[in-house]
Amino acid sequence: MAFFNSSSLTHTTFKFLLGSFLLLVGIASAQLSSTFYSTTCPSALSIIESAVNSAVSSEARMGASLLRLHFHDCFVNGCDASVLLDGASGEKTAPANNNSLRGFEVIDSIKSQLESSCPGVVSCADILAVAARDSVAALGGPSWTVQLGRRDSTTASFSAASTNIPSPLSDLSVLISNFSSKGFTTNEMVALSGAHTIGQARCTVFRNRIYNETNIDSSFATSLKANCSTSGGDDNLAPLDVTSPEAFDNAYFTNLLSQKGLLHSDQQLFNGGSTDSQVKAYSSNLTSFRTDFANAMVKMGNLSPLTGTSGQIRTNCRKAN
Ligand code: HEM
Ligand SMILES: *[C@@H]1O[C@H](CO)[C@@H](O)[C@H](O)[C@H]1NC(C)=O
Ligand SMILES: *[C@@H]1O[C@H](CO)[C@@H](O)[C@H](O)[C@H]1NC(C)=O
Ligand SMILES: *[C@@H]1O[C@H](CO)[C@@H](O)[C@H](O)[C@H]1NC(C)=O
Ligand SMILES: *[C@@H]1O[C@H](CO)[C@@H](O)[C@H](O)[C@H]1NC(C)=O
Ligand SMILES: *[C@@H]1O[C@H](CO)[C@@H](O)[C@H](O)[C@H]1NC(C)=O
Repeated sequence: MAFFNSSSLTHTTFKFLLGSFLLLVGIASAQLSSTFYSTTCPSALSIIESAVNSAVSSEARMGASLLRLHFHDCFVNGCDASVLLDGASGEKTAPANNNSLRGFEVIDSIKSQLESSCPGVVSCADILAVAARDSVAALGGPSWTVQLGRRDSTTASFSAASTNIPSPLSDLSVLISNFSSKGFTTNEMVALSGAHTIGQARCTVFRNRIYNETNIDSSFATSLKANCSTSGGDDNLAPLDVTSPEAFDNAYFTNLLSQKGLLHSDQQLFNGGSTDSQVKAYSSNLTSFRTDFANAMVKMGNLSPLTGTSGQIRTNCRKAN
């Protein structure tokens, strides 16, 4: 009660409340715009699209790798290209990323083309967001309008990268909680997980599943063991979607119905829990998966961007200016 007495709503308290309000509004609607570069770098989007199309046509998996880069950027202190910074205290060597993230050379090449056309204008964080969209589209997935105007961080965080990226060993309740803490609903988490309809994973992240788990199709497990023995070969690869690893379709969800999820975390989405119905729905309705995935990607791209005069436009995505 005393708190609200007479003059107790002090100037300091007022400023605190106002600050908190602005902070909340800032998080909810940072100042991004789809036309951000239309006068300062009109060729930006076509330069990125051409480079992504060419990289994906040389190697389809590159589309998956570029999509994952944007995810791992956004989940660690927001979409600020921190994931691209080199250095011992950076994010690249955090457990979820070390010997795993790839596509950095494609981003470097895009950045150098953009620096030639429009020096100091297009951020590395925006390159990641557009490259993720163009990668999905190049592999036959949906497209969406990318909001632009993110700026780049000057620092990266090994520790944040070590604690903010969900683990493939987690159960459903933990995955739900991890996405919820970034502002995503369970439905959005399931839609975003459909990214695993493309790309590859290393033996080390699915070994325990294929040798020790029971909610796995037995012939699927047997075939995976050929390239992933109980020890050694940690970096040997297997497709996340055994049916069509180079097509952005809904086969990831169909696989889950027959216990052919590669990661423990994948199969958790169809294991008798609350997300079973959505997995079933996506497996029978490609359109609904495409729509929900696109919307959730736009939302992911809005995670705490640096805007205005915060951060910088790096000229080299690997280091601060
Ligand atoms: C639900 C929580 C998630 C977990 C636990 C998870 C975990 C993993 C793991 C362990 C790998 C393999 C890494 C390796 O072998 O080194 C992987 C690959 C991949 N992840 Fe996820 N992931 C999740 C969500 C997402 C989301 C939201 C996206 C994007 C929207 C995504 C996109 C990808 C892609 C495309 C690959 C393949 C990359 C490549 O082939 O280079 N993942 N993920
Ligand atoms: C990253 O992987 C390399 C090569 O396997 C290894 O030497 C290094 O210790 C790892 N870094 C970290 C921080 O775990
Ligand atoms: C995921 O959620 C669990 C349970 O709330 C928490 O202990 C863990 O730190 C979270 N991990 C990530 C990557 O957010
Ligand atoms: C299977 O589980 C046991 C007991 O947790 C563990 O010691 C073993 O390393 C696991 N096997 C594989 C191949 O991961
Ligand atoms: C086995 O792993 C290697 C190395 O990652 C990979 O090139 C190959 O495609 C994998 N083979 C099969 C059958 O999955
Ligand atoms: C698929 O989902 C969409 C909603 O995204 C819905 O409008 C449509 O009716 C569904 N199609 C079928 C065949 O159920």
